[in-house]
Amino acid sequence: MKKILVTGGLGYIGSHTVVELQTAGFEVIIIDNLSNASVKVLDGIESITGIRPEFEELDLRDKQATISFFQKHQNIAGIIHFAASKAVGESVENPLLYYENNISTLVTVLQQIQHQENIAFIFSSSCTVYGQAEKMPISENAPIQQAFSPYGNTKQIGEEILQDTAKIAKGLQVISLRYFNPIGAHASVAIGELPDGVPQNLVPFITQTAIGLRKQLAVFGNDYPTEDGTCIRDYIHVVDLAKAHVIALKRLLNEQHETSFEVFNIGTGTGSSVLEVIESFERVSQQKLNYKIVDRREGDVISAYADTTKANTILGWKATSTLDEAMLSAWQWEQKIRKTK
Ligand code: WQD
Repeated sequence: MKKILVTGGLGYIGSHTVVELQTAGFEVIIIDNLSNASVKVLDGIESITGIRPEFEELDLRDKQATISFFQKHQNIAGIIHFAASKAVGESVENPLLYYENNISTLVTVLQQIQHQENIAFIFSSSCTVYGQAEKMPISENAPIQQAFSPYGNTKQIGEEILQDTAKIAKGLQVISLRYFNPIGAHASVAIGELPDGVPQNLVPFITQTAIGLRKQLAVFGNDYPTEDGTCIRDYIHVVDLAKAHVIALKRLLNEQHETSFEVFNIGTGTGSSVLEVIESFERVSQQKLNYKIVDRREGDVISAYADTTKANTILGWKATSTLDEAMLSAWQWEQKIRKTK
């Protein structure tokens, strides 16, 4: 059974990916520094798959501890690298935290594996690397534009570091997955998104407003050049996104890759406006959402949704869940965690 290291594996996307890896027959070891995740997520994963993943608490900023970890675990066939900070606003206020936590840790991990015979590396990237793309839907050869935030910049720099390293480290093969907007939770409601504090993202703010945790959702602007004036995004069910990681990993392990660094957009291919997401929520929850239109949020792009042709045809992956299914899973998760709070 091939052993896969999942860094940041107790996080939102990481935990859903661990479930899909175990279901696909991989042995998983998770490292996480618990800065934005709880060790209780291990129970959730085990309750779904019946297998408790190996877990070591490790902060990749601790270089010595990271070196010791890789010395101890020599038989890792692949790495799925989620460990990073990901709050756009926080990155503007604290850029050095993001450059240290998202870039220097990636370099440390690559230094440990660069001489390995054969290692598959899946990188968690983001559609933010495109900035405001000219053409919709966005394809992988859309130009990489000046990042809107240090967070987005760390994803661009991360991809460049991986591309340069994969060129010389003969054993290293990389796939970078550029996520659009992950939402929703596993159908078991044993794992899901656990935003700490006031959620920055739309969907957790919607469900927390509906459950009464937040007074009202503020919709950031309805004067954009879109059909209903609100911004458009590609909201993808987190389980569809998790499955894309397993398919990408298998592509590398089975040596089906064409080059040592490949990129895929992971989205549904459909754009939804903020008001359409609210309408979807009201449909699936059968309750009205309390929201108001306020000013635009600094840094928001008008529209971003994926051209999924490459992922569909070359990777052989396609998202299957609809927006309503994803919103219902998010709502069911919110109801469950508020009951157990
Ligand atoms: C979506 C839309 C907001 C909150 C970010 C990162 C991206 C990824 C996902 C990590 C926008 C509107 C939001 C609210 C609102 N993160 N909105 N009221 O900004 O597209 O993407 O999160 O990988 O990298 O950039 O997601 O959910 O914050 O916003 O009106 O309270 O919802 O203006 O149009 P975003 P989001």
